[in-house]
Amino acid sequence: MSISVTDTFELNNGVRIPLIGLGVFQTPPAETTRAVQTALENGYRHIDTAAGYLNEHEVGEGIRRSGLPREDIFVETKIWVSDYGCDATLHAFEKATRKIGVEQLDLLILHQPAVGAFDRTIAAYQALEKLLAAGRVRAIGVSNFTPTLLTRLLTAAEVVPAVNQIELHPYFTQVPSQQADAAHGILTQAWSPIGGITFYPGFGGSGRSTLTDPTLRQIAHDHDKTPAQVMLRWHLQQGRSSIPKSTNPKRIAENIDIFDFELTPDQLARIDALDTGVRGGPNPDQPQSRYFTFHIPEA
Ligand code: A2P
Repeated sequence: MSISVTDTFELNNGVRIPLIGLGVFQTPPAETTRAVQTALENGYRHIDTAAGYLNEHEVGEGIRRSGLPREDIFVETKIWVSDYGCDATLHAFEKATRKIGVEQLDLLILHQPAVGAFDRTIAAYQALEKLLAAGRVRAIGVSNFTPTLLTRLLTAAEVVPAVNQIELHPYFTQVPSQQADAAHGILTQAWSPIGGITFYPGFGGSGRSTLTDPTLRQIAHDHDKTPAQVMLRWHLQQGRSSIPKSTNPKRIAENIDIFDFELTPDQLARIDALDTGVRGGPNPDQPQSRYFTFHIPEA
């Protein structure tokens, strides 16, 4: 059966999330409103932001300028580590909703595990559980949680996270994390789904870009599509949510134009085989004291 742009994934609490969303990591505030508006004009119905991106206000502005009803758009944001702790996280929710200009969030997740202070991570997650019970958020989740950290969280949590957003692109597929998420009924959401992290200045990565990978180029050529479209279709066919970032109108449109072709099992396997095991982003198992000194401004 073919998949269409209006289809959704069902989260473990019955809430439905669009198959693909617009990411705004590294989108400067001055370009965010237009990117969000362009995405919504091109059929996107999911925007993924974060307090730490410092562009939540502009995401809200893009949503308002689209003229679409609020309930048609799935809004996801993240609590930054310096706001972890029960009261601090409840306040961080207020900051986020005021900046975005919404009463309720569709998905609120913890941006990173604070491995040096995991008790604060647990307290933050318990605040998300309170917000869920109060109907202020429709679903809650985490980001960058390894299988071990997920297990630690689940011993203290009442609500299983709906989503775990992790670095995932053809050069870093994190199969054990995908399997752990699936075993708990958690939807894996791919950040940097087309491998932007492999070529962003200042990040590690494998030192080569997924966008020029010969295998991806060959598969793209076979379907008259682009490598980015092939990677996004690969996520989709393997049941992952993805949030490609672009500020370029043509590429924003290109990234959601993935519903008119299908990768074969052999092509999916060839993409899986590109995994290098090398992550581009920070290792979530390493304590990062600098996370606590990055302050999220009031609304
Ligand atoms: P730009 O915003 O100029 O389009 P990821 O979401 O995997 O991290 O990738 C984001 C990076 O990939 C950004 O540098 C973005 O730049 C670029 N990008 C987004 N879409 C495409 C595309 N369809 N083709 C090539 N590059 C893209």
